[in-house]
Amino acid sequence: MKALKIGAGALLALVVVAVVGVMVMVSRGNARLERRWDEVKGVDVPVPWPLDEPELAALREAKKQELQAKAATAAAGEAAPLPADADLLAGVDLVAIAKERALARGKHLIEARGGCADCHGADFGGKVIIDAPPMGVWASPNITMGGNAKNLAPADWDRIVRHGVAKDGTSATMPAIDYTGMSDRELSDIITFITSAPPVDKPNIENKMGPVRGVLIATGGIPVAAELIDHGAGHPKVPPDEAVTLEFGKHVASGCVGCHGLNFAGGPVPGGDPKWPDAANLTPDASGLAGWTAADFRTLAREGKSKDGREMQEPMKGITAAMRAMTDTELDATFLFLQSLPPLAKGAATAP
Ligand code: HEC
Ligand code: HEC
Repeated sequence: MKALKIGAGALLALVVVAVVGVMVMVSRGNARLERRWDEVKGVDVPVPWPLDEPELAALREAKKQELQAKAATAAAGEAAPLPADADLLAGVDLVAIAKERALARGKHLIEARGGCADCHGADFGGKVIIDAPPMGVWASPNITMGGNAKNLAPADWDRIVRHGVAKDGTSATMPAIDYTGMSDRELSDIITFITSAPPVDKPNIENKMGPVRGVLIATGGIPVAAELIDHGAGHPKVPPDEAVTLEFGKHVASGCVGCHGLNFAGGPVPGGDPKWPDAANLTPDASGLAGWTAADFRTLAREGKSKDGREMQEPMKGITAAMRAMTDTELDATFLFLQSLPPLAKGAATAP
């Protein structure tokens, strides 16, 4: 009877210790996320991105030719004189043209390079990303005009997408590290696309911090993007020209660092599902992409298969499903850039 009582007491003590432990871990993780980033202001990028001078010049030229063709077919005396260059585009809805082009660019960015739909759902209405008791519930919000987007200014989008800072100024759990390399125009195009998507009328799913996620966030096992990003670095207005160059390749590859590391040497995916394999080493080392050709890299993107024919596992399986939509230029430039990196051993630590 006494032994039983002691046993029950010990069990109770254990349960109390466990419960307190869980509460401490959850609160440590939450505390880390509560750090404020009020100095990070975000840029109010224009939405939609306006037509640039070469685009306007091309539209003027097309209009001129259209008018000249009309004048040529009109009976003599009926043809109106051509307006001055500056007036050629009077009455043309330039914002509508700009928006149409922004939508096309935004669609490609989201399909091939953004990954936004992977986490926010194909309709951007939000979804559960992880739901497991030790991790808790990690869900993304509804970012359509039927949800949070109606309260977000472009600068708010900038803060969360390129800086990892939530609208309330605290650290967000979104992996913004992959998007810090985005130019103003690309951010604007993505905002145009998502805010033009059909509004989804759905409340946000509630997040719940589980003990394991709390520990991982508190200890840095799940990186907090806002802490890793150089908030003063600034962003280019427009992306580099789309061509097979190191510059453009580096730009595209900036979307791969969240998993493959800032030095592209691979290793365990930070905060990833424990079932996932390590992210591959993308540097031209024997443990990485030494011996790969641009054709091998295209096959990886288009067929989801490694050089040796092995099918990619998740999460790279999902990434290759998106990379399929990349243009040959995007793929070849990325490969060119990766091959230009110093060869590093797999999982090598990023130099400080
Ligand atoms: C790995 C999953 C993941 C990916 C990929 C992702 N998001 Fe998020 N996003 C989240 C989560 C989770 C939140 C909630 C973050 C928080 O407040 O801690 C969020 C929040 C947001 C918000 C803020 C909404 C608000 O009310 O403040 C916006 C806007 C957003 N994401 C846009 C994007 C865009 C655009 C992309 C693609 C370029 C993207 N997200 C990619 C997971 C993701
Ligand atoms: C969400 C995490 C994640 C992102 C983002 C990601 N990868 Fe991966 N990648 C992985 C993992 C994990 C593997 C290993 C998959 C396997 O072994 O089946 C991998 C494998 C690869 C491989 C295969 C190498 C080999 O030896 O077979 C290449 C190449 C690659 N990734 C390139 C990229 C590029 C380029 C990008 C950016 C456009 C990218 N990855 C983005 C996680 C990611």
